Amino acid sequence: MKVDQAAMLREIKRKEDLVQKIPKRAMHDSARPREVRVLSITSGKGGVGKTNIAANLAYLLARRHKKILVLDADAGLANIDVILGINPRYNLSHVLNGEKTVTETLVEGPGGIRILPSASGLPELTDLSRGQKLTLIDALNTLNGEIDCMLIDTGAGISSNVMYFNMAAKEIIVVVTPEPTSLTDAYALIKVLYQRYAKKRFRMIVNMVKSAAEGKEIYSRLARATDHFLNLTIEYLGYIVLDEKVNGAVRQQKAFAELYPKCPSAVCLEKIAEKISSETVEEHENGSINFFWEDIINKGRA
Ligand SMILES: Nc1ncnc2c1ncn2[C@@H]1O[C@H](COP(=O)(O)OP(=O)(O)OP(=O)(O)O)[C@@H](O)[C@H]1O
Ligand SMILES: [Mg+2]
Repeated sequence: MKVDQAAMLREIKRKEDLVQKIPKRAMHDSARPREVRVLSITSGKGGVGKTNIAANLAYLLARRHKKILVLDADAGLANIDVILGINPRYNLSHVLNGEKTVTETLVEGPGGIRILPSASGLPELTDLSRGQKLTLIDALNTLNGEIDCMLIDTGAGISSNVMYFNMAAKEIIVVVTPEPTSLTDAYALIKVLYQRYAKKRFRMIVNMVKSAAEGKEIYSRLARATDHFLNLTIEYLGYIVLDEKVNGAVRQQKAFAELYPKCPSAVCLEKIAEKISSETVEEHENGSINFFWEDIINKGRA
């Protein structure tokens, strides 16, 4: 008996030693699902370029061997499938009704990005039944391990759906343009997300500028206001110049970064994609995508 106990202790020690030798990263990978980065692309004012940025950023990240899912969380008209010339058969409403699985609903876009199309008249998440919420969690859960990064194209403003999708995103990217109302509306959005929903990390893309200097200037203006009135620092992610090629690509229903990879707007977005993909993301305890949805759903009850 004693011998057995000693043998057992030796065996335990041997296993402990083995565990010590496993690199931390490997342990992490096998212990729980891979971290999925969840970034929302949002704005206070509509029409600032969110959908174009989401589609093209997704494409550029996919070019860097990342597996990208774009969630179209805006029930508006100029949706991501429209600008990319995709005709989805199914959308989020089919998933919510339990008629289709997420995999059956996903459509493929440029560079192999996957898109979960929006339902027109997407219901407010607060209005979903418990059964629908669970369906949604289960559905998105099936994508664990299949994607590295989810980009959410939200609607504009401070409606409850915009809030919930931003709330659940770990990284919020606010898009502004030099238009004064775009800045005041962005400020209002950030203020609500910060004060009411305790979000603290905001990053900014300034779109449709004439120059790098203008981008920085617009960023500084908003950052000064949030610093001063909210005691909150916003990070600058970059700028995108006003470029007729963006509209040209929209007319052809193609991603501008794919159609005109050397055009000024694509060059600007390339720098932003580079920045995003080179970052090491803070590891979260619960990194899988279902926690994103559980978060949405639990907070959605409040
Ligand atoms: N850098 C740019 N240069 C020129 N035009 C641009 C640029 N970015 C976006 N646009 C144009 O601005 C318009 C609005 O873009 P988009 O639909 O992406 O905005 P949005 O923020 O998603 O709008 P909404 O709030 O309605 O969802 C489109 O016609 C698009 O082609
Ligand atoms: Mg849009």
